Amino acid sequence: PAFAVVVVGSLNADLTITTDRLPSAGETVAGHGFVTRPGGKGANQAVAAARLGSAVSLIGAVGADAYGSMLLEAARCDGIDTDSIVTIADISTGVAVIEVDAHGENSIVVFPGANGRLAPHHVEKEAERIAAAAVVCLCLESPLETIMTAARLGHQAGATVLLNLSPFREVPAQLLADADLLLVNEHEAAQLLGSTDPTIDWGATALGFIARGVGDVVVTLGARGSMVIQGGPENLPLLTPIPAVPTHVVDTTGCGDAFTGSVADSLARGDGLVAAARRAAVVASMAAATKGAQDSYPTVNEVKIHV
Ligand code: RIB
Ligand code: NA
Repeated sequence: PAFAVVVVGSLNADLTITTDRLPSAGETVAGHGFVTRPGGKGANQAVAAARLGSAVSLIGAVGADAYGSMLLEAARCDGIDTDSIVTIADISTGVAVIEVDAHGENSIVVFPGANGRLAPHHVEKEAERIAAAAVVCLCLESPLETIMTAARLGHQAGATVLLNLSPFREVPAQLLADADLLLVNEHEAAQLLGSTDPTIDWGATALGFIARGVGDVVVTLGARGSMVIQGGPENLPLLTPIPAVPTHVVDTTGCGDAFTGSVADSLARGDGLVAAARRAAVVASMAAATKGAQDSYPTVNEVKIHV
């Protein structure tokens, strides 16, 4: 079967402690809740798109352990095809240790585990699946060569390649060239462009992206919404600010992934980028209002009530 959205990315068990405030270095603070939840940027994006109705296949890797089984089960519960998730025998499933404070802010340490073993050949084996997709959705929690292979296969087949530069690292120009759409938060944008704050001068920011060979970009700004940057006529970038959807923030873990998965679902349906970013703002805001990453993502019917 063809899948509208193919996500190539990570699956992590999110070991989450809630606490009043995040500890500083060398400090111990008391937590008042602990729960293990399905997470990982790739799996989160896949779940966000699937809840919004897309047929989704996730290409990834887990270990042969209880966390791996939990993550496969969680993906299947959301109707995600898991046939392309490989199980690696001699390494742990990816794990994220997450602390969430009273304001919904978090700090996360990720151990990639099996995600770090997702190799280019695993992705090449799924070339047909990738070629048949409308949207190929990528983030940077898997090895760079693997993500580059997926981007190349998607690009060659004419799929829309969506690249979320998270967690940030420097990437080869070829990866940016193979991506049709870049999704970054303001910090990732600043790191990519070597600037201090992209919001100070959007014109310069847009030109910076063009100089990096990037086509369309969405820069997410947390509670300040997002900015859609599109190539206009004569290389003049078109800037469209998208307002945030206000909410009471409980837990922002995975809100960026919710945004990305929602955009993937919209683009797979043929929606324009501005419309996609507007709905993604609703989805991300709903995700921020409840605990967890995937656990907080809305279904298509829940979103309809809000738009
Ligand atoms: O983006 C949120 C995700 O980052 C969490 O689910 C955690 O697994 C980390 O990878
Ligand atoms: Na949440």
